[in-house]
Amino acid sequence: MTAATDLLPPPPAFGAPVEQAPCPEVLQFLARRRSTPALTLQAPGPNAEEVAAMLRLAVRVPDHGKLAPWRFVLLPAEEKAAFAARLEALALARGETKAAAKLAKLKVPPFAVAVVARPRPHEIPEWEQILSAGAVATTLLFAAQAMGYGANWITDWYAYDAEARAILGLEPEERVAAFMLLGTPAEPPLERERPDSAALISTWRA
Ligand SMILES: Cc1cc2nc3c(=O)[nH]c(=O)nc-3n(C[C@H](O)[C@H](O)[C@H](O)COP(=O)(O)O)c2cc1C
Repeated sequence: MTAATDLLPPPPAFGAPVEQAPCPEVLQFLARRRSTPALTLQAPGPNAEEVAAMLRLAVRVPDHGKLAPWRFVLLPAEEKAAFAARLEALALARGETKAAAKLAKLKVPPFAVAVVARPRPHEIPEWEQILSAGAVATTLLFAAQAMGYGANWITDWYAYDAEARAILGLEPEERVAAFMLLGTPAEPPLERERPDSAALISTWRA
């Protein structure tokens, strides 16, 4: 079987013309892709080379001002277990058993990547920097799924809690855009209800 990373072409050289051609496979993929519930993500997860490839794709996003206002924190299985244990201790010390139970989604999958937004004071509005972090997270989700892995974008309380963010190693101005949970789907995810795009559209008129 061809490794997912073997299918990935090298990045274009800086300044090289990048031919833009229709890509029916991408349309097929976008029409059918689906996140996998975290609790059904099992081993194997992506290896280091595959994660590096996913992240190389993830940073190819629109980014006003070329600020790259994001970074990644990798949580391989062992490190993720230790991180979850620290969060569990934090929740239990506060008597928050529901919060502790919610950690199952983080504990079960074999790999996670925290996508961190790091907006900085700049003429490019913070809003746009955070939107770019969302684009990075979405592209990471899609790249993982296109490589055949199951993926689930979650946040949950530990994305917002100041102490939990410090345990992750975030600076005060940094924010978690996503905990991207990665693994192999135990079973194909079921299609969920989707919004009717037509109902969301209007045409501006003078
Ligand atoms: C910013 C963000 C945070 C999310 N946080 C959670 C979460 O904490 N728990 C959860 O069950 N789903 C969360 N979701 C939703 C799932 O990632 C996603 O909507 C669902 O799995 C279906 O995704 P799909 O359209 O890719 O199939 C979040 C989505 C986004 C965009």
